[in-house]
Amino acid sequence: MNILGIEASCDETAASVVKDGRKILSNVVLSQIDLHREFGGVVPEVAARSHIEAILPVVEKALLGARTDWKQVDAIAVTHGPGLPGALLVGATTARTLAVIKNKPLHGVNHVLAHVYANWLLPKLPKFPLLALIVSGGHTQLVLFEDHFDYRLLGQTQDDAVGEAFDKVAKILGLGYPGGPAIAKAAASGNPEAFGLPNVYTEGIYDFSFSGLKTAVLRHLQRQLSKDFDFPSFKIANLLSKSQVNDTAAVFQSSAVDYLVTKAVGAYQEFRPKSVVIAGGVASNQLLRQKLSQSLEKDIDYAPPNLCTDNAAMVAALGFYQAKYQKAVDPLTLETVPSLGI
Ligand code: KG4
Ligand code: ZN
Repeated sequence: MNILGIEASCDETAASVVKDGRKILSNVVLSQIDLHREFGGVVPEVAARSHIEAILPVVEKALLGARTDWKQVDAIAVTHGPGLPGALLVGATTARTLAVIKNKPLHGVNHVLAHVYANWLLPKLPKFPLLALIVSGGHTQLVLFEDHFDYRLLGQTQDDAVGEAFDKVAKILGLGYPGGPAIAKAAASGNPEAFGLPNVYTEGIYDFSFSGLKTAVLRHLQRQLSKDFDFPSFKIANLLSKSQVNDTAAVFQSSAVDYLVTKAVGAYQEFRPKSVVIAGGVASNQLLRQKLSQSLEKDIDYAPPNLCTDNAAMVAALGFYQAKYQKAVDPLTLETVPSLGI
């Protein structure tokens, strides 16, 4: 069964054809990073407008790349939430229209769950029960899956997502956008033990809090520069030496990773799942992969970075299981839900 996946929930316009939820026939991702870089983050209106221009050529390229014509497409899966309202609307409207014109079943896919299904695109099939650590720009969650569509949320961030914290700390350090890869790069030349950051407490044992960690970094830098706590964060980068930037990146990355790994290992020990997967943009972080593999008795297969960050192959992979186990939705009524939960 060939599924055409369509993804436009943030700053990537993507389309992909996946066979049987496992085999990628094509995977086209058009990143808007260059459009948003000068603003230091994603500008929703710019994103939506750019999706409008890109989406049909991206879909066409995905079909061409897969050497597939419409007759060989069995269903369409599209991200309908969570995400930026304008962006989601472009993706969903495109998919709905194509579903009507081409007479194909349509499935609305949850973007966060789709990140988890990127792991179904790896050579080894994940097994249930499965523990997923979801770490993206918008989400930080630990989810236990008993089966497809049978899962429970063990815990989640109470404030910022971990990717958001990487992006914010990168901004303070003047490392630009997106922050995750920039922090990882700077951290490679820094000392992760240059200073300490406090542990962040949460009430739920599998919950997270990242805004405190970001503030602790800010306070540390203000102190180091002999400034008050109201000294503006955007004035800090210019006053820092390269080694201060690298050390701060290394300390922050190492603290954030240790925090994620401790919680994931705790959940693993309590629930003893057959598989552990990590999902979302931050899952491409090498230190996170290294430390998680060192701390778990279980082998983990990691998706390549292009399947960790936003893409449509993961949407098509989850779409395949929706097509298999669930009813298609009416293309005339599929709604976008910007704050869709899992
Ligand atoms: O999953 P994703 O592409 O989009 C969302 O659904 O949010 O995740 C984007 C996030 C950004 O915050 C970015 O800074 C972070 O993933 N990220 C990383 C790395 N690559 C991307 N964070 C840490 N290390 C990385 N190597
Ligand atoms: Zn995402």
